Amino acid sequence: MLSCYSSSVAMEILSRALASVTDSVALVHPTFDNIADLLRGNRLGLVPLEEDPLHADDLPAELLESVGCVFVTTPNNPTGRVVSAERLRRLAGQCARHGVILALDTSFRGFDTRAQYDHYEILDASDVRWVVIEDTGKLWPTLDLKVGMLVHSENLGLPVEKIYSDILLGVSPLILGMVRRFSEDAAAGGLTELHEFIAAQRSVVRAGLADLSTTGVPDPDSRASVERVLIRHLTGTEVWEALREHHVYALPCRAFYWADPARGDRTLRLALARASAPLAQCVRALRHVLTPR
Ligand SMILES: Cc1ncc(COP(=O)(O)O)c(C=O)c1O
Repeated sequence: MLSCYSSSVAMEILSRALASVTDSVALVHPTFDNIADLLRGNRLGLVPLEEDPLHADDLPAELLESVGCVFVTTPNNPTGRVVSAERLRRLAGQCARHGVILALDTSFRGFDTRAQYDHYEILDASDVRWVVIEDTGKLWPTLDLKVGMLVHSENLGLPVEKIYSDILLGVSPLILGMVRRFSEDAAAGGLTELHEFIAAQRSVVRAGLADLSTTGVPDPDSRASVERVLIRHLTGTEVWEALREHHVYALPCRAFYWADPARGDRTLRLALARASAPLAQCVRALRHVLTPR
């Protein structure tokens, strides 16, 4: 396990290492945009892996024959979709049979108990070459207090240790000590409290917009610390611009659709892991902007 300053640093190390053995990666679509950016920045070609087929049947053999790695974010950002234990078992088995590396970004799993099964047991049992990027940064998003962890199978066969030592020596003991204390607090009930807090924040957004015919809820099952809002009559970028006049910040979803940004035009993403008053203000501003006049 390699401790990094952030999951983006872990991702950069993995991307550089992958580029030494392959030129093509299948990446879940949509997902957090810097994953695609970092892979492409290392000259890796990307094949979009849509969420519906990812969560349904086996992946097509042609896809697995054309890539060196399958990269999946679970729970996904921004949709919150989670790869189940059974799905992971099949995915790992398929990747093992095709000699493809299976990489997971589990940065959001602390928010969702459905993603808290033992991924490592399943991955090890399959003989797949695997990498998992774990992250504490989304759980306690304060003052850049975070650790990204690059965890990998013994048989990975990528130069991750060498690239890691080229980039950093280790994470500050101060940060590690603080993350340890936060983790102890999480285990002693803090995580359950966090889940309740995020669920309450999500309800504020959904209740605040429920009667607007211009909006919808694209991710009804999500437990991640983000909430997408579907907007029927304006683009996410138009709403983002209008919200800025109210000094409110929300993220248009174009960039998450790294292979086809236009598909993100009708959604906007709100961060839920923040103080309740600014979120309520954001929902009021959103209501104002989205109410047809
Ligand atoms: C799924 C996922 N992975 C990685 C990252 C990158 O995290 P960081 O900026 O802490 O490196 C993010 C950021 O939001 C993310 O959503």
